[in-house]
Amino acid sequence: MFDRIAPTWETRLRPEHLDALMLALDGVPDPARVLDVGTGTGVAAHALARRLPLAEVTGVDLAPAMVAEAERKGGRARFQVADASALPFADGSFDLVVLVNAIPFFDELARVTAPGGTVAISFSRGAETPIFVSDDRLQRELARRGFSDFAAFAAPPATAFRARSG
Ligand SMILES: C[S@@+](CC[C@H](N)C(=O)[O-])C[C@H]1O[C@@H](n2cnc3c(N)ncnc32)[C@H](O)[C@@H]1O
Repeated sequence: MFDRIAPTWETRLRPEHLDALMLALDGVPDPARVLDVGTGTGVAAHALARRLPLAEVTGVDLAPAMVAEAERKGGRARFQVADASALPFADGSFDLVVLVNAIPFFDELARVTAPGGTVAISFSRGAETPIFVSDDRLQRELARRGFSDFAAFAAPPATAFRARSG
């Protein structure tokens, strides 16, 4: 389905799409390696590449047409087709892992996040987002995998949840 709608995906996004995510990242030490999981057309990856000029930013998505749209925009971020449930990266590869409106595969999130690294999960329409996962569940699943320092953010209608590994 996402391959089919890739060319028009961004007509569905509102200007405030990333507001809660960016709020969640305020105060987080600048990461060197950033991963955007379920990047779609790369909106968050491109924004993070602009916000963090020294960071190496990678976006992954299962849909090749989404990745093609993300790459078509140019910019510094790199993109590849990959499955969030079996990420092609070594353990601890990223200092910051973000998801925007994407299904969290918690074991893989925990595996690729470096010790001391940050995970930030945002839903641009809050609880109205089709694959919304509540803060309670995010905290429970992440705590079970060694995350702490939980914090929740809102930039209505968007929400974000942040956690630190270790
Ligand atoms: C709702 S879209 C969000 C796209 C983007 N993050 C945004 O906010 O604009 C969800 C994305 O997750 C991707 N996706 C679905 N299952 C996936 C998986 N197992 N691994 C990686 N990406 C996946 C879809 O192809 C789609 O691009």
